[in-house]
Amino acid sequence: MIRTIIKSTGRYLPERVVTNEDLTQWMDTSDEWIRQRTGIEERRWIPEEGDVGASDLGLEASKIALKRAGWTADDIDLIIFATLSPDIFFPGSGCLLQYKLGLNSTPALDIRQQCTGFLYGLEISDAYIRSGIAKRILLVGSEVHSTGLDISTEGRDVTVIFGDGAGAVCLEAMETDEPVGVLASSLHAQGKYAESLMVELPASRLNPRITEDGMKDRRHYPKMDGSRIFKLAVKRLPEVTIEALEKAGLSVNDIDMIFPHQANLRINQFYQKALDLPDEKMFNNIQRYGNTTAGTIPISLDEAMEQNLLKKNATLVFSGLGAGVTWGAVIYRMP
Ligand code: UT7
Repeated sequence: MIRTIIKSTGRYLPERVVTNEDLTQWMDTSDEWIRQRTGIEERRWIPEEGDVGASDLGLEASKIALKRAGWTADDIDLIIFATLSPDIFFPGSGCLLQYKLGLNSTPALDIRQQCTGFLYGLEISDAYIRSGIAKRILLVGSEVHSTGLDISTEGRDVTVIFGDGAGAVCLEAMETDEPVGVLASSLHAQGKYAESLMVELPASRLNPRITEDGMKDRRHYPKMDGSRIFKLAVKRLPEVTIEALEKAGLSVNDIDMIFPHQANLRINQFYQKALDLPDEKMFNNIQRYGNTTAGTIPISLDEAMEQNLLKKNATLVFSGLGAGVTWGAVIYRMP
């Protein structure tokens, strides 16, 4: 049967390191508060002068993934670009990336699934590949948060957690009788919590879509009910992991490594405890990068691949919860 395999990975983090201490010059916060509440020590931001969009970070990550796959851009049947911070309002960053890769008519699909963008992207890719519509897909998760954050004490709860960065994976069809590749996925959404984490402006439901008054009220910055999202995450992540494992005919004992979304180290510690897993089965790098939303899981996976942590037949879980709210888990076995 046809299975979806992660052929290669790549990541790109901008060079500018912003430490917790750096943030204290713009807002009333402290290194101690940020470390204790989130685990974050530093994050990467694009250069202050801007002019770098999600497609630019995605391009760098994609070039690495393509090279490692031994593909040229022409080998790609479909680009899926997951981001909540597209370069421009429309068209999607996938189209911009397609052009930057030197492609002429390869289809490009943007998905706006925030923290679960990589998970939704993986399930869509798996459906395309197993149905035979595509054989080779480039899936990118990329965010430029820094140009959209409220860098002041008013926005400190949200601003301290986000970073810029991109991850990319090359996904390929493999004909095999072995249970490898994407084994199962469980995705969910609950729109009743949409306003618990949102950026309201620009908004098509408003005319005009953005005004000076709206900006004065800071409605173009992200707003989050942090404790609600936190409570939902610690409940839903273990639950959806078990649900997806059951779909794959597996249990918690079969997990070799979880790649959780990196929103808050404390969330992942509660998640780990709920499943009673040792530290070495939970991959975290939020300490260095903060929350790069659609980028977190492919960036983590790329680091783990580089460190040679994932052996043949290792069973992996990719999981996350974020704005929407949306949440999910994908079970993957290394070929
Ligand atoms: O990936 C997207 C999904 N997002 C998440 O999963 C995020 C989930 N939520 C969280 O990670 C946490 O809720 C936060 C890290 C955002 C906030 O942590 P918290 O422990 O829930 O803090 P809080 O919002 O309840 O605030 C506690 C106190 C408040 O002060 P008072 O009212 O107790 O005097 C805040 O004003 O901490 C204050 N505070 C800060 N202090 C210093 C909030 N942000 C900061 C800050 N620095 N950056």
